[in-house]
Amino acid sequence: MSLRMNDTPPQCKPNRPQTAADSHVGYSKSQATPFDILEFAHATIADHLFPGDLSVDATAGNGHDTLFLSRQVGTDGLVLAFDVQETALASTRKRLAKAGCPDNVRLIHQGHESLALHLDALKNENPDVPPLRAVMFNLGYLPGSDKSLTTKPETSLSALRQALDALAPGGICSLMLYTGHAGGREEAQAVLEHVEQLDIKAFRCLRSEVCNKPGSPVISLLVWKR
Ligand SMILES: C[S@@+](CC[C@H](N)C(=O)[O-])C[C@H]1O[C@@H](n2cnc3c(N)ncnc32)[C@H](O)[C@@H]1O
Repeated sequence: MSLRMNDTPPQCKPNRPQTAADSHVGYSKSQATPFDILEFAHATIADHLFPGDLSVDATAGNGHDTLFLSRQVGTDGLVLAFDVQETALASTRKRLAKAGCPDNVRLIHQGHESLALHLDALKNENPDVPPLRAVMFNLGYLPGSDKSLTTKPETSLSALRQALDALAPGGICSLMLYTGHAGGREEAQAVLEHVEQLDIKAFRCLRSEVCNKPGSPVISLLVWKR
């Protein structure tokens, strides 16, 4: 079959990156750590999230994940980004502005445990709100800030339950669990215990871990809703 001049060429993979750093698609190259566990989460979410979708960043922090989600859902989509620290939201706001992001992010200065309330309010505001396709949790403390202000098992679990409940079928929830700070190991354990007992008929959960990092493991969970 030959292509005429105005035909769209068949979809194909982009060229292989020339260097390891070129393969790092999310963060800016200056921060690049090729073969990064968060990059794998981003790449998987990117396969499930499309322009016009609704997504949630449950822990906005410095805004890397919010920016990633904003780029995935585009001008017609929406990202709800939660954080309890104003400094985190300011940092996220700055990152989004610097990247020239479209006006598709709502920064919410409240805990992610209020997720269901915000989703209900959104539906009341607009009954045609798109289905929730992705939720990201990057637990722990705000890098470069007070390490004692961390996410907590009770509120993280409450938000996780609400997120899994609200996700559309085929949607995905990712969790990055850090175990090196005070309380991190206990929180990771609580989240793992919750995810491990999810019904396989309703969810498929994948766990990955940097297994040669000295010290405290970083664990990534991807929960896909059937
Ligand atoms: C590891 S950082 C998030 C990193 C962020 N996703 C990024 O891309 O830069 C964890 C964040 O969770 C926030 N946090 C703590 N408790 C929270 C809660 N209950 N709801 C929402 N965010 C919370 C902290 O303030 C901190 O900014």
